[in-house]
Amino acid sequence: MKATIIFLLLAQVSWAGPFQQRSIFDFYDLMLGDEASGADSDDHYRSPDAPDADVLGPVCPFRCQCHLRVVQCSDLGLDKVPKDLPPDTTLLDLQNNKITEIKGGDFKNLKNLHTLILVNNEISKIDAGAFAPLVKLERLYLSKNQLKELPEKMPKTLQELRAHENQITKVRKSVFNGLNEMIVIELGTNPLKSLGIENGAFQGMKKLSYIRIADTNITSIPQGLPPSLTELHLDGNKITRVDAASLKGLNNLAKLGLSFNNISTVDNGSLANTPHLRELHLNNNNLLKVPGGLAEHKYIQVVYLHNNNISAVGTNDFCPPGFNTKKASYSGVSLFSNPVQYWEIQPATFRCMYVRSAIQLGNYK
Ligand SMILES: *[C@@H]1O[C@H](CO)[C@@H](O)[C@H](O)[C@H]1NC(C)=O
Ligand SMILES: *[C@@H]1O[C@H](CO)[C@@H](O)[C@H](O)[C@H]1NC(C)=O
Ligand SMILES: *[C@@H]1O[C@H](CO)[C@@H](O)[C@H](O)[C@H]1NC(C)=O
Ligand SMILES: *[C@@H]1O[C@H](CO)[C@@H](O)[C@H](O)[C@H]1NC(C)=O
Repeated sequence: MKATIIFLLLAQVSWAGPFQQRSIFDFYDLMLGDEASGADSDDHYRSPDAPDADVLGPVCPFRCQCHLRVVQCSDLGLDKVPKDLPPDTTLLDLQNNKITEIKGGDFKNLKNLHTLILVNNEISKIDAGAFAPLVKLERLYLSKNQLKELPEKMPKTLQELRAHENQITKVRKSVFNGLNEMIVIELGTNPLKSLGIENGAFQGMKKLSYIRIADTNITSIPQGLPPSLTELHLDGNKITRVDAASLKGLNNLAKLGLSFNNISTVDNGSLANTPHLRELHLNNNNLLKVPGGLAEHKYIQVVYLHNNNISAVGTNDFCPPGFNTKKASYSGVSLFSNPVQYWEIQPATFRCMYVRSAIQLGNYK
């Protein structure tokens, strides 16, 4: 579990040279950058045994480890958030504990906190406004808990919210109201239905780039997605149709994941509404034909259509009419595990593709 989180965090960090991780704190140093490298940081924490500890300032909570404004309290069997956390903490790691509830005052002094990790606890209740004091919070990781709803009044500075594997059935518009810095939202593996996501819940977040709602029970693409979106991952749901209207205005969308749904129809215009799409994953659905609009599309590179119910492929399904048009863009097209046999597809169907190996037609053995 810890490895997963660290991986997620690392995915956002870039560094110039090779990095050798010696301890968890090296990683945190890396993440926090200059902020954590102040020469004075170590002096902020005093061992609980030190005389006058309570006079001299914040103490590292019992059994936690504190270093460079990172407070590490994971895997300690804690059933609540420790009291008196050092107020200059920038990263607080409470994952893999047994915390059941987040109370109003739990984070009251943490004005410098950037990252709060609460993954893999037993949290079913978060008091309204418990996160409000965290006026610099950018990343909030709530995955693997028992939340039925997302918390209200999250800090306006929030950029990333991860809450997969909870019991969330409702996503209210009010939750994201005013969260104008949001970039990443992850809500996969929750018992969500389409009606549970309020229309326009994600609207208005002008920087929102990534939404993942995979392995839930939604039956349609959420409405009112923001035009800033570059990735939309809705794999493993119960979606039956790609409706062009819900993709309207998604001019920046580059990846659309819809595999493992029950899609039988892709509306004409879906691809026209996503003019910068590069990857379309529609494998493991119920499609009867190749979606329209691929031949005219300028940027599409990857089209996964394997494991569908496609019984015929037309010579203009992928390439513009005529033999002199080349589309350099295709790098992966899959059609295997469909009723159509590869020998029934005219070779001219792929006339515009430079890279033959990009096409996967049959299960060659
Ligand atoms: C989706 O609904 C089915 C049937 O109601 C249920 O068994 C399943 O657990 C639900 N999926 C999720 C992720 O909640
Ligand atoms: C898939 O959708 C069809 C209607 O298009 C429906 O009859 C069928 O039950 C659905 N299958 C699943 C597994 O949800
Ligand atoms: C979608 O487009 C195809 C090809 O342009 C056309 O044959 C078909 O009638 C259209 N379908 C609808 C519902 O407009
Ligand atoms: C596949 O498509 C055919 C029509 O081409 C239809 O008769 C059949 O029921 C479909 N199979 C599934 C599993 O939907």
